[in-house]
Amino acid sequence: MKLYKLFTPGPVDVPDDVLKETARPMIYHREDKFKTFLLDITTALRKILFTNHKIYFLTSSGTGGMEAACVNILSSTDVPIVASSGKFGERWIELCRYYKVQPTIIQEEYGKAIPPERVEEILKKCGATTVFATLTETSTGVVNNVKALGEICKKYDSLLVIDGVAGLGADYCPQDEWNIDVLIGGSQKALMAPPGIAFISVSPRAHEKIKKSDLPKYYFHLDFYEKFLEKGQTPWTPAITILFGLKKGLDKILKEGVKENFKRHAKIGDYVRKRVKKMGLQLLPENPSNALTVMKMPPHVNSTDIIKEIKEKYYILFANGQGEMKGKILRIGHMGNYTIPKLTKAVDILEKVYQKWS
Ligand SMILES: Cc1ncc(COP(=O)(O)O)c(C=O)c1O
Repeated sequence: MKLYKLFTPGPVDVPDDVLKETARPMIYHREDKFKTFLLDITTALRKILFTNHKIYFLTSSGTGGMEAACVNILSSTDVPIVASSGKFGERWIELCRYYKVQPTIIQEEYGKAIPPERVEEILKKCGATTVFATLTETSTGVVNNVKALGEICKKYDSLLVIDGVAGLGADYCPQDEWNIDVLIGGSQKALMAPPGIAFISVSPRAHEKIKKSDLPKYYFHLDFYEKFLEKGQTPWTPAITILFGLKKGLDKILKEGVKENFKRHAKIGDYVRKRVKKMGLQLLPENPSNALTVMKMPPHVNSTDIIKEIKEKYYILFANGQGEMKGKILRIGHMGNYTIPKLTKAVDILEKVYQKWS
């Protein structure tokens, strides 16, 4: 079976040395070897998130991390703010509503970033305890101004919860410096591992709110995670193989150098955006992320045709738009183990096929 090269915004192509790690012999999660391993992986991750906070590893995809944040931080009487600029921002709204919490919503147009001044205006009026937002909005390719959101939340003594699933490791986001109380990530994007692990990094201020939360939860109850972390363990059997892979992915970033890693993502982002513009196409995001590039199709071109042809002829997979954006945009993922030469090949093919359909 011939495999596709993934240029999707997660999961991404997993490097061979990371894959190899996932095939290591199993260890038992209730013994010292695991304790040392958990400490090592936490130390490595903290360097990439720029944080000293406690980090909990969950066996789930990124959405599990989002759900954990929601049910542990909120209480039934809370009216949080959800600031959304795309499908993943909308997931915060959906999550809140599933747990019968009705958020105040700031909904920005697709392609635009969350306007921090709007968040400040609403926060000033309603004094919400918590603001939920997204670092990299993968549905539109926007990177939001999380730094500004952090300053605003600090000013109004509100907790900031950020979905960093797609952006962490590709778009610079220093948790502690930017006053992010809860930061959520996943294994399968810029950190280069297979899907299956989410993590959630939690500030002491957020821990205080967690203690008062009355929303129902069990598997994702962070009280259990906190207690077990004292023993260097997770409360339930974790996806140890994925953790092995994640550790290798983190080590690769540290070996490259954290700064260098972000620089490489910035260079690739810049390169792909220039190529897309040269093709005569417009970018969807006003404020583009370095994790992926999202371009609009002209009205007479359907991205579904282009993606299908490239997949079938060239074994390269780009991503379509989600929901009502299907066919209208094309998304190129370049978070993780990507280089300019790899992107050059992929974009050359995209250009050729696009010219045929346009
Ligand atoms: C920004 C963002 N948040 C959350 C998720 C959800 O992650 P998962 O599909 O791993 O549950 C994704 C996945 O694409 C994402 O890009």
